[in-house]
Amino acid sequence: MNRKIKFIIDTLKHPKLACKIAFDALKQPSLLTISRKAPGLCSISLGWLIYNRVLKSSHKSRNIIEVGAYKGKSTCFLSLAAKKTGRRVKSFELFSGLPTADPVLDPRFRKGDMSSSLEIYESTVSTYGYREIVDLVVGDARQTLPSEIEDFCVAFLDVDVYDVTVELLSFLIKISQANHSNP
Ligand SMILES: C[S@@+](CC[C@H](N)C(=O)[O-])C[C@H]1O[C@@H](n2cnc3c(N)ncnc32)[C@H](O)[C@@H]1O
Repeated sequence: MNRKIKFIIDTLKHPKLACKIAFDALKQPSLLTISRKAPGLCSISLGWLIYNRVLKSSHKSRNIIEVGAYKGKSTCFLSLAAKKTGRRVKSFELFSGLPTADPVLDPRFRKGDMSSSLEIYESTVSTYGYREIVDLVVGDARQTLPSEIEDFCVAFLDVDVYDVTVELLSFLIKISQANHSNP
């Protein structure tokens, strides 16, 4: 669907959110630039939501986790928030596309859908975000995330596949609980 039409439909569906986004975008024009120019799937509404979630987090951890970066668009939104709050983005991506999905739970997705490349990611994040405060980890996050992350303030999971999301969520919940009992 054409981006402008999608934006109009989003606005009609969520008028209050649209007003907030417009107001925020005036204060932070880089959000609009990412939304209009960076390649990828993250909409302005989602970009605005994840940006604000980081700004509002009072958690002391400096790590913002992103799993599923594709061409780096959501990474740009998160890196802007990281810059404002003195944090870093830990970005996890396969680049080889989606892993095998359960055909019943995820009938729309096929293995390898949405493959991207390191070159596109690098170009997007250096042009529209703050590459210097992003740590990219290439590979399957189900294997790489546990050795990289001990704590986090915000996690954005955008991997599409149900099974992968459940596995990552269980891991993140365990970390949060462990940090909560040993602050
Ligand atoms: C919906 S796209 C992400 C869109 C992106 N957030 C954006 O702003 O455009 C889903 C991404 O998740 C990645 N992905 C899926 N399973 C993964 C896994 N186990 N580990 C790392 N990345 C994964 C895919 O390679 C794909 O690029």
